[in-house]
Amino acid sequence: MTQDELKQKVAQAAIKYVKDVPIIGVGTGSTVNYFIDYLADFRAEIEGAVSSSESSTQRLKKLGIPVLDLNAVGPLEVYIDGADEVSPHKHLIKGGGGALTREKIIAAASKTFVCIVDENKTVDVLGKFPLPVEVVPMARSYVARELVKLGGQPIWRENYITDNHNEILDVHNLSILEPKKLEAIINNIVGVVTVGIFAERPADIVLVGKGTEVITL
Ligand code: 5RP
Repeated sequence: MTQDELKQKVAQAAIKYVKDVPIIGVGTGSTVNYFIDYLADFRAEIEGAVSSSESSTQRLKKLGIPVLDLNAVGPLEVYIDGADEVSPHKHLIKGGGGALTREKIIAAASKTFVCIVDENKTVDVLGKFPLPVEVVPMARSYVARELVKLGGQPIWRENYITDNHNEILDVHNLSILEPKKLEAIINNIVGVVTVGIFAERPADIVLVGKGTEVITL
């Protein structure tokens, strides 16, 4: 199977986690796009979705699924989202698509976070995928210097502005042996909005498209 076919398969497997869930948390990315497309089959039963990005919002609305404000709905039962890397502890790197801040908010506000990935995303140690860090624009260079002190090589994602009107630094060459610790350290740098390590609030369930199967971690 191609990577795209695996994404599609794992997205379909996630549907069982949202059956009978009236309001669904929806992430961002190509894997989630497949998931949104599958949601269309039972849109009449869905009260609405809380979306983590403008792009997912557009896709949901196009299919006739109402997009709701997180502030108006309280805790969510289930959040479905992809990831760029997944460790055996279900710690993640996210933000390749730039939506990490809203993704982290929805993950925090959800009882169950189901992460859907293809087998290429599973790793023993996080960090091969450049770690996205969303920063307030005026703090970009300062934060970059602080990230260099931590051993990383930050690269500015040029010509890219997040949905929250901020910028992204992609940090290369980090071997993230203590994800919770590094998440806290980077979060604590002034000017950082969100770091793409999801360890303090990891995934609860990871569905991995592998070969012809979907494996549950
Ligand atoms: C977006 C994300 C995505 O979940 C991550 O980039 C995976 O994307 P894809 O499903 O396209 O591989 O974190 O901010």
